[in-house]
Amino acid sequence: METILETKNLTMNFGGIKALDRVDLDVRQGEICALIGPNGAGKTTFFNCITGIYPPSEGDVFISPPAGKRKRINGLPVHRVTARGLARTFQNIRLFPDMTVLENVMVGRHCRTKAGVLGAIFRDRITRKEEKAVVTRSYAILERIGLADLANALARNLPYGDQRRLEIARALATEPFLLLLDEPAAGMNPRETEALEELILRIKTEEQISILMIEHDMRMVMSISDRIFVLDYGKKIAEGTAAEIWENPVVIKAYLGEEFDA
Ligand SMILES: Nc1ncnc2c1ncn2[C@@H]1O[C@H](COP(=O)(O)OP(=O)(O)O)[C@@H](O)[C@H]1O
Ligand SMILES: [Mg+2]
Repeated sequence: METILETKNLTMNFGGIKALDRVDLDVRQGEICALIGPNGAGKTTFFNCITGIYPPSEGDVFISPPAGKRKRINGLPVHRVTARGLARTFQNIRLFPDMTVLENVMVGRHCRTKAGVLGAIFRDRITRKEEKAVVTRSYAILERIGLADLANALARNLPYGDQRRLEIARALATEPFLLLLDEPAAGMNPRETEALEELILRIKTEEQISILMIEHDMRMVMSISDRIFVLDYGKKIAEGTAAEIWENPVVIKAYLGEEFDA
């Protein structure tokens, strides 16, 4: 399998804190990978460094889109990283609460239109045609995610689990080759978590999108991940399959004194 994301020596310093310390990580085409570790281990910082929110202090981030060339992307601004095919969701949900469900997905879609935001204001003929296509595409994504019935509801009125799914829908609208999920099951009840698991597996098999997720729900991590990476104090302390990670003494030690599903 081809490597589609690779970090080398990825390091992020915040003042005296090394939030990431020479992290090497790779995701291959078609994989579901999980990034786990105790609170404060550097997981969200890892996402922030590869998506352009923070330029890493040291090290490199490379992407190799399935249909493209290998590129070094550290330092690229967020919107250019998105345009290159990395999409993410956030640990704290970031939707537009006063926009409808459909409009939230359309926002994601605009990064793939020629007209973009300016065109949407001037609304020439091409823009109107494009706009229609955006609505159609966005609605189709909602159907796939199972939120089409709620297309006209305000995002703020959705149950929590549906808000998390809507964030995934908006990320999918940017047509990523790799989807980064930051604690997608946080705050979900067991039934919602099960539906989420199904959705993630479906995104992988039906859309050929690879997934890297940060997740504390160990049952879910162990059941759907092809490979797992473990961070502790900014360092990668282990990687492997669920079976390998589950019985790795180094991992068990890192979690001692922590709730395993904290
Ligand atoms: N913007 C920031 N400024 C200063 N310190 C930060 C910042 N973001 C994260 N950190 C620190 O980096 C470490 C890793 O945080 P984070 O990546 O959020 O961990 P995790 O997602 O694994 O819980 C923590 O010590 C946190 O306080
Ligand atoms: Mg985090």
